[in-house]
Amino acid sequence: SPSDPDLVARARAAKEKLGEKVFVLGHHYQRDEVIQFADVTGDSFKLARDAAARPEAEYIVFCGVHFMAESADILTTDDQKVVLPDLAAGCSMADMATAEQVAECWDVLTEAGVAEQVVPVSYMNSSADIKAFTGRHGGTICTSSNAERALEWAFEQGEKVLFLPDQHLGRNTAVRDMGMSLEDCVLYNPHKPNGGLTAEELRNAKMILWRGHCSVHGRFSVDSVNDVRARIPGVNVLVHPECKHEVVAAADYVGSTEYIIKALEAAPAGSKWAIGTELNLVRRLANRFAPEGKEIVFLDKTVCFCSTMNRIDLPHLVWTLESLAEGKEVNRIVVDPETEKYAKLALERMLALP
Ligand code: 13P
Ligand code: SF4
Repeated sequence: SPSDPDLVARARAAKEKLGEKVFVLGHHYQRDEVIQFADVTGDSFKLARDAAARPEAEYIVFCGVHFMAESADILTTDDQKVVLPDLAAGCSMADMATAEQVAECWDVLTEAGVAEQVVPVSYMNSSADIKAFTGRHGGTICTSSNAERALEWAFEQGEKVLFLPDQHLGRNTAVRDMGMSLEDCVLYNPHKPNGGLTAEELRNAKMILWRGHCSVHGRFSVDSVNDVRARIPGVNVLVHPECKHEVVAAADYVGSTEYIIKALEAAPAGSKWAIGTELNLVRRLANRFAPEGKEIVFLDKTVCFCSTMNRIDLPHLVWTLESLAEGKEVNRIVVDPETEKYAKLALERMLALP
């Protein structure tokens, strides 16, 4: 079983044997059984920075999903090896934008005569190919904790932004934080000819949003917000910006996973919170803050784990650490040098944002 004391002991022993050679990163959506072995936990922005700040570690074991491990490989030195404990830990949102689709989109923008005005801004939750496309076309990466600064930067470089692949983070940031209107945003559907847009619509748009979304955060609805308000009078509703625009509009606070944690740390005793993000994190926060008298509930009635984050479990972590301790390199994530060069450019633009 996942909490098997034997597995816990084996993970501990293998990690001890590896010592300074291994650095374990854990995203906030990871299971508790995995998080207990993380040297550092964080949101995707913090983990990207922390991976880059550990040049002495030979192995970076990334407990998170594939695009995060790719970003860590791009930002670490060539001698460092990034390892993903289960290669099937992908992200359905990142899969919604392929290199071919994005190249085709750029052709559509070129045909419409707008490509020269467009700066791509890609969410961290995208493949290294998409990050490379972004770097090649003068754009930047963003995460949910710096999307506003990334958009401000992009609108200093050009008149329009192509935001990939999360339509919700793009729309929420444009409308909530940047004062744009919903009419300034158009939705590019990669499954339709010309993205389902006319040249005139592209010319009039400020934000061209890729039609991608997170299947986990997409499950929250305005009904879940109304239900929890009726159930728990005085509740504060705090949601992740990957939620739909109408859910964000109905919430009291919006922010990345790090923001959510900080908000709860600062919350007064006796306050009540409904959180709209992944369930592993919400349960962990509910347990952590219950002794301080803070009541924390999950925003929805249905269970809402990220199934790919959950693929990294204690058995996979034990296998990974034991293999590395025996000198067997497993599950390495390597981005090819050409892709890395341009993806790094885009990631470095993000890291340099004010
Ligand atoms: P953050 O870690 O930036 O809050 O993003 C959440 C997420 O969906 C990661 O996959
Ligand atoms: Fe991807 Fe959503 Fe899972 Fe994050 S929570 S890894 S965006 S599917």
